[in-house]
Amino acid sequence: MADVPVIDFHSHILPGIDDGSKDVETSLRMLDMAASQGVDLMIATPHFYASRHRVEEFLPRREASWNRLKEGLAHHEGKVPDILLGAEVAFFRGISQADKIGAMTVGDSDIMLLEMHFEPWTDRDIKEVRDLVLDRHFTIILAHLERYMDIGQNRRRYADLFDLPLYVQINAESISGGKLRDWRRRKTLINMFKDGQAHLLGSDCHGIHHRLPNLIAGRNALKEKLGEAYLKKLDERGSNLLGLKGDTHV
Ligand SMILES: [Fe+2]
Repeated sequence: MADVPVIDFHSHILPGIDDGSKDVETSLRMLDMAASQGVDLMIATPHFYASRHRVEEFLPRREASWNRLKEGLAHHEGKVPDILLGAEVAFFRGISQADKIGAMTVGDSDIMLLEMHFEPWTDRDIKEVRDLVLDRHFTIILAHLERYMDIGQNRRRYADLFDLPLYVQINAESISGGKLRDWRRRKTLINMFKDGQAHLLGSDCHGIHHRLPNLIAGRNALKEKLGEAYLKKLDERGSNLLGLKGDTHV
């Protein structure tokens, strides 16, 4: 592992648990792809929907998936990224009051990858996020914030979120390549990194044909626009957040 590990904060790398990797073989190929891009650590973040799953059912299912992957890894050649278990927790009304949601954090940390909903956000929704951060003391990572920008007035709500000590994760594909018409969006997102409104990068990879491990594309875009020193800062921020090195700070 490099001095400061390269971390993919959002991945559907675990086999057969959600709409991500369909089996162990796919997961291993995804891990190989990530390794070839210099990724040292992937946070496995299978979808958790409170409307469909119970925490008591989700955790053993995630464990079983992880055990199947570990078995595959035992016979796998070549170095692959380390994996840390987490979840992509879909926001639901009442989440800030839900006792068991604490089991959905990354490893044994207080970090939670939170996926907001795809409707206009209400004051109450923003308050729930605030309560998760300030009352429940979760370290919230907002998953792929760019996906909500065009929904209602959500973008105007970002300012309320940016007031909170939380982290914003952006998908690598959103700042790299893509269609010409996305050029402005990419610029906006890269400026958010520059201005301290976006903090972490994830591949949000789901497979080997579609939505594949592509962290390097996002890293290259950041390096090209913001320089090598920024990339180092990004890696240090991620590492500090996970307690791998130094103190946590946004
Ligand atoms: Fe995801």
